[in-house]
Amino acid sequence: MNILILGSGGREHTFAWKVSQSNLCKQLFVAPGNSGTAQMATNVNIGVNDFQAIKTLVLDKGIDMVVVGPEDPLVNGVHDFFLNDERLKHVSVIGPQASAAQLEGSKEFAKEFLIRHDIPTAAYQSFTKDNVEDGFAFLETLKAPYVLKADGLAAGKGVLILNDLDEAKTELKDMLVDAKFGTASTKVVIEEFLDGIELSCFVLTDGKDYKILPTAKDYKRIGEGDTGLNTGGMGAISPVPFADELLMNKIEERIVKPTVAGLQKDDLPYKGFIFIGLIMVGNDPFVIEYNVRMGDPETEVVLPLLKNDLAEIFRAIGNGTLKDIDIEIDQRSAVTVMLVSGGYPEAYDKGIEITGVENITDSLVFHAGAKMDNNKLVTSGGRVMAITSYGEDYNEALKKSYQNIEKLHFDKMYYRKDLGFDL
Ligand code: AMP
Ligand code: GLY
Repeated sequence: MNILILGSGGREHTFAWKVSQSNLCKQLFVAPGNSGTAQMATNVNIGVNDFQAIKTLVLDKGIDMVVVGPEDPLVNGVHDFFLNDERLKHVSVIGPQASAAQLEGSKEFAKEFLIRHDIPTAAYQSFTKDNVEDGFAFLETLKAPYVLKADGLAAGKGVLILNDLDEAKTELKDMLVDAKFGTASTKVVIEEFLDGIELSCFVLTDGKDYKILPTAKDYKRIGEGDTGLNTGGMGAISPVPFADELLMNKIEERIVKPTVAGLQKDDLPYKGFIFIGLIMVGNDPFVIEYNVRMGDPETEVVLPLLKNDLAEIFRAIGNGTLKDIDIEIDQRSAVTVMLVSGGYPEAYDKGIEITGVENITDSLVFHAGAKMDNNKLVTSGGRVMAITSYGEDYNEALKKSYQNIEKLHFDKMYYRKDLGFDL
């Protein structure tokens, strides 16, 4: 098969690393890709939402399968675009159709789905600018902290957690009336606050059957001890040590099974990854969000633990034969530590030379915001590289990543040294 991966982050480098190990993969393309994907694939400078240019590339190169990394093109209907085109409809697309991608594209849609299928989640109500006063009244019935979620995609910034009632009311007004997140906050979901430790569960589905991948926990805040601004993710650990058999059974029975059955009942066509964000309330898992793709940096720890041929799994998803695949998981732990540009997630410089990567031999280096410029490896984004290591437990794996980070350098490099502090 000729395979195209859409995206340019550490997640897509990890997909490329894994898929390129498969004998089923003849030619591999990544659009637009980065300096990491260039090592094992052909990068093509096309944006993930430029469907016409993607079509031309797919026809030119005889591409048989498209693996979609980020959520945007899925919510924008890339899978439907392929199905609705006579010349493209034979191409297998890994990622749900637009109707199902609403699970990530609309918080309200996701909440309605969860309630309809009796899947544990926080109580909620949603509001628009026409009933903002009702929103204030609803906030008054809740206890602090208050959780406000912009309904639409807001690049990971659309969730606000506020301790003060007046501040929550002001923010609600800003979102609904003053379009704080543009059209993403035309509607706002206000949700009961759930107090507990978070973990994520990753599921593969062909729309009928499912397979569960290792759990992971990511670290979203920039500062140690989970302080400071939210980021795309500063690192991840897999599997989550407290996700024992008992908890995994609860997650499967109460959440995964009704989710996949719900997709079928509601006629939501889904071939791809479901990333379920969970929060533990006591010993019980609750869903806080669905994402319709893999996580970044969770991919950088989950895929290295998968022993199967990923292209074979994707082929089975395309054919609707996922039930015939036996998933094999490495029993070790994997961790990844994200190296970021100084200043991130606020303003930061780009184009800074990265040296010493070649000295790292016993960790996996996944490039994110990095590119080649005049034969030099330089930074090109906030999250620059993810250093993934294996270990008998997550502490051993972390030690290896931290040791290897010492071998590489770029000016103002920053990373969190406390991953796993809460476990
Ligand atoms: P989301 O984009 O829905 O994942 O929300 C971003 C983050 O906000 C989550 O990772 C949680 O840390 C937090 N969060 C979201 N919903 C809730 C909730 N109902 N209770 C507590 N924390 C929440
Ligand atoms: N690391 C969180 C995400 O990919 O959404």
